[in-house]
Amino acid sequence: MPRDRFDLVIAANRLPVDRAREGGRSVWRRSPGGLVTAMESVMSDRDGAWIGWSGVAGRAPAPFEQDGMHLHPIALSADEIRDYYEGFSNGSLWPIYHDVIVPATFKRRWQAAYEQVNQRFAEIAAELAADGGTVWVHDYQLQQVPRLLRELRPDVRIGWFNHIPFPPVELFMQLPARDGLLRGLLGADFLGFQRLADAQNFRRACRQLLGDEQVTVRGDVVRTADGHECRAAAVPISIDTRGMVELAATPAVQERAAEIRAQLGDPEHLLLGVDRLDYTKGIRHRLKALEELHREGRLDADRTKFIQVATPSRERLEAYQQIRDDVERTVSRINGDHSPIGAPTVTYLHRSFPREEMAAMFVAADVMLVTPLRDGMNLVAKEYVAAHDDSGALVLSEFTGAATELKQAFLCNPHDIARTKQTILRAIDAEPRERARRMRAMHRQVLRHDVQHWAEQFLTDLATAPRQP
Ligand code: ADP
Ligand code: F6P
Repeated sequence: MPRDRFDLVIAANRLPVDRAREGGRSVWRRSPGGLVTAMESVMSDRDGAWIGWSGVAGRAPAPFEQDGMHLHPIALSADEIRDYYEGFSNGSLWPIYHDVIVPATFKRRWQAAYEQVNQRFAEIAAELAADGGTVWVHDYQLQQVPRLLRELRPDVRIGWFNHIPFPPVELFMQLPARDGLLRGLLGADFLGFQRLADAQNFRRACRQLLGDEQVTVRGDVVRTADGHECRAAAVPISIDTRGMVELAATPAVQERAAEIRAQLGDPEHLLLGVDRLDYTKGIRHRLKALEELHREGRLDADRTKFIQVATPSRERLEAYQQIRDDVERTVSRINGDHSPIGAPTVTYLHRSFPREEMAAMFVAADVMLVTPLRDGMNLVAKEYVAAHDDSGALVLSEFTGAATELKQAFLCNPHDIARTKQTILRAIDAEPRERARRMRAMHRQVLRHDVQHWAEQFLTDLATAPRQP
């Protein structure tokens, strides 16, 4: 019997499952992305409701129970998907929050749709939260929800976590909606960011753009003119480390890892990349580095193989079509120029895989290439480190949140192709003792700071945040 009020309500753009068509039938599939990876395991041993979009246009499916959670789909019309999700969220905010790797576009129609959809999320969250309950809002798609929800339900504790970076004020201030976004967030009691620098960027934006008349910033607390206090601090997200350690050690995953290597002709060095097919992930730069290494004869196509998993993402947006075209053209050129018959230099996989298969790829890989131009955290880097305790090597971009914690990785600046090439070769050629030393330290780090630790920290910070006097 579903209850109608919940002590903990999660509000995220997507539900943990997505409505998709398979063989002419409508089915629920796991949603893509790090938010779902993290929150799915946090919620698996907690009671609560999750509100989010079902992934298709039109009327929302009826609420349902899954894995002990109450899932409450939110309806988005085709126009709202275009304007709120593809437009404002991924055409305006995403580029600004990721250092304008592609230009941002601003349209007043998009902003209006964003406000309308955020209002809908706030209303449903207000209906579902128990008296004095907690609502945990997620990510850049829902930045107005904290203020709108506080107006409807001043009794609930409101937290928001940003899975992506928060930009420096010089970029943020380009957004025509900038003041409304800040005021929206300031409705929360606690705001969690991936890095200290993100929290500082937010506080600086409040100080500079809202000014003394609207806010006072003391330490990590922002106080608004009506006396409400909102704390903004870093709480870096993580993964279900023990889950990955156990999965990676199962005989089935170990055997599958050996099979993957055998299928590729048992290369001496197996390199791996796993990313949503997004221009922020630096896949183009990574392929350029690898292509040059092959062309210069510094990598041998018989001894070194590369698997690139590129998960389909936001496929109707032009920038995503462009990156897909570029990546696929480059992969095919590398294979055309270098692959021996029957053994491609780059194995390109443009689809989703079960967790077991992902774990097998992590176990199989000698070197993991994580080279985003900007990334809030990058959970893939942590998953690889969890799957290895004293083997393997991680090449990691300095522009990921993960680089703050995984200091023993082979760090690189993906914009610097020459150095990135050297770093890839260093990782490939590192002595087993050096690899083991680096990997052990990183493995300990992700064991100590796992996703349960993150969720507890966030919820404690939220519960103890200062409130309106
Ligand atoms: P983002 O949230 O930007 O997509 P993250 O690296 O933080 O990036 O998280 C991606 C998550 O999605 C990881 O848990 C990763 O294992 C998972 N993932 C990525 N590609 C696939 C795929 N093709 N099939 C299944 N899971 C995937
Ligand atoms: O945090 C980045 C994010 O937008 C998440 O909200 C989501 O998990 C992931 O990327 C996938 O994006 P989308 O929901 O747009 O497919």
